Amino acid sequence: MNYKKHIIPKIKGLLHGADYNPEQWLDRPDILAKDIELMKQTQCNVMSVGIFSWSALEPVEGAFQFEWLDNVLDNLADNGISVFLATPSGARPAWLSARYPDVLRVNSARVKQLHGERHNHCYSSPNYREKVAIINTQLAERYSHHPAVIGWHVSNEYGGDCHCHYCQAEFREWLQNKYGSLHNLNQLWWSAFWSHTYTSWEQIESPSPIGENSVHALKLDWKRFCTDRVANFCEHEIAPLKSINPDLPTTANFMEYFYDYNYWALAKSIDVVSWDSYPLWHRDRDEVALACYIGMYHDLMRTLKNQPFLLMESTPSQTNWQPITKLKKDGVHLLSSLQAVAHGSDSVQYFQWRKSRGSVEKFHGAVIDHVGHANTRTGREVTAVGEYLQQINAVAGTGTQAEVAIVFDWENRWAMDDASGPRNEGLNYEQTVCDHYRGFWQQGINCDIIEQLCDFTPYKVIVAPMLYLIKPGVAERLAAFVEQGGILVATYWSGIVDHNDLCFLGGFPGGEGSSLRRTFGIWAEEIDSLYDHERVAFAMEVHSGLGFSGEFQAKHLMEHIHLETAEALAYYREDLFEGCPAITKNQVGKGCAYYIAARTGTEFNQLFYTALTHLHGIRKPIDNIPYGVSVTTREDEQSRYLFMMNFMDEQQTVNIPHGQWINVNTGDAVQENIMIQPYQVIVIKNNK
Ligand code: GLA
Ligand code: ZN
Repeated sequence: MNYKKHIIPKIKGLLHGADYNPEQWLDRPDILAKDIELMKQTQCNVMSVGIFSWSALEPVEGAFQFEWLDNVLDNLADNGISVFLATPSGARPAWLSARYPDVLRVNSARVKQLHGERHNHCYSSPNYREKVAIINTQLAERYSHHPAVIGWHVSNEYGGDCHCHYCQAEFREWLQNKYGSLHNLNQLWWSAFWSHTYTSWEQIESPSPIGENSVHALKLDWKRFCTDRVANFCEHEIAPLKSINPDLPTTANFMEYFYDYNYWALAKSIDVVSWDSYPLWHRDRDEVALACYIGMYHDLMRTLKNQPFLLMESTPSQTNWQPITKLKKDGVHLLSSLQAVAHGSDSVQYFQWRKSRGSVEKFHGAVIDHVGHANTRTGREVTAVGEYLQQINAVAGTGTQAEVAIVFDWENRWAMDDASGPRNEGLNYEQTVCDHYRGFWQQGINCDIIEQLCDFTPYKVIVAPMLYLIKPGVAERLAAFVEQGGILVATYWSGIVDHNDLCFLGGFPGGEGSSLRRTFGIWAEEIDSLYDHERVAFAMEVHSGLGFSGEFQAKHLMEHIHLETAEALAYYREDLFEGCPAITKNQVGKGCAYYIAARTGTEFNQLFYTALTHLHGIRKPIDNIPYGVSVTTREDEQSRYLFMMNFMDEQQTVNIPHGQWINVNTGDAVQENIMIQPYQVIVIKNNK
């Protein structure tokens, strides 16, 4: 475990800033000058520049205009403001689409898109690749050693897929490399089903809304291919940057619970993970579930590279694209921003610095509104974040120690959602993983969010909800983890298909004689789906060993399982599976494996994971955390920082653990109890 790592080598502190689009204001030097003044006033020390600047940088093919950017970067450097310089591939000039129409994306219905919007280029187009390489090289040659520039912001929010003939050809080649022969592909795709057997590679097409939807493995491979394609494009973008200054780190901004690509794979192409977070605060009366959901994603972003990440975008006030564009209540901006830092971010950055006058984002929140100054509620909230970050600046680079890992696996997610059954109304994978995570989050226990290919050995506990698709070797590695003393928790609908999306034969989970089935010591015979309103009771045994008992409710999905070597901790009380085991435990070697056969609710999960924590000696920083308060820790060799965040609209009291704690903001010693105001965040520190 790295205790400390400064992910942006030139910067040793926390970053605070925004996406800055000076190209929209080039005819207003007064505004550009004012920007610098306001950046200082609002305690901003970083700007992301050039994200959508291509047509300002290359208004005519091959004729570059860099003077304006020279001035902007020089000015920022002179004023001590750092820059993430963007490659501009997220949106392209009209001349490019007009002259090279193959850069335009073809959608899944095989309709070529017109010029407009953004984020809609083909990742295979040779012309797009060439033009991107040229502009990126120009930027790298000119600015890689500029004093303001601390890293590359590569493109913007990579997303989507393209079905043009280039992409189809790439897909077929990808399949040929993967399967070698058509015979092999047909076998592994189970294509004899509905006469889908392929007799030539040319017959294979990407999935489309009209036609090919029935070969699940094709759809899964398409998603894998699209991830590889975008990673390949990203690497193509990065190559000229690195060839000129290999020391300048790269990042690409990721999105919330993004579906299109496997971020575990894409993260390998960049040096630093960053993401754009837009939580819907104030949608629900109780915001705890949302706080937890966002917390889990921050943890994922940190775990992707096992180092701090960047909060590349968030709104300083409101968005303009969510169903309801709500402002944040006083203090919530600071809380939401600091939540990212609490989970491992080394920055708080916004979209956007200054509101544009026209076009689609003219009403999207910005640090500087149309009024043109920062003496606004938003301006003050942003400044407060900047001041707060300075007070806790030493947190930058500190690591997060986690004994618990929760598995959130992209390929599993895709395969399960596409599976036609057992609950087409929604399997709710993301929310289900989060419901389990919440059992630890509410106890203030740091969690890593891993995929099934991650190293399991650093952890004491691994929770893998609905691990439907199991890749080769994973069952064996999980078995070894348990034998060596690990605690494994899995649920219903696990170990159903292999990485080819073929069902395991001979009994779930994992098939006959599989390590998975031996690890859990059960056989899962069948699964029942429940309507949203249905509930089925199960009861925790008095002698379960977990220290709690009583009746609970299962929802959505429940399995009919049989004990092999496991013992039952709970039984269904009614309905079809009455008297059958609902929760089991199997002792294997030095560890044990729990199996939760039905979807459980928050109340059960809370009791279950609290009991597990107690029983298996998982460390937690604080006892008895009040509902709605989230606690995380970051640390380096010398110090431990404890973040306490109150997501409730009421004052709460937290019991501080023993030790010499200092309030990082005030420098005061902290007593046994600390009051935490509505939406307040407090950071305390002690020396190890
Ligand atoms: C995304 C984009 C930004 C901006 C914001 C608005 O995150 O990356 O350019 O459009 O959304 O919320
Ligand atoms: Zn294409």
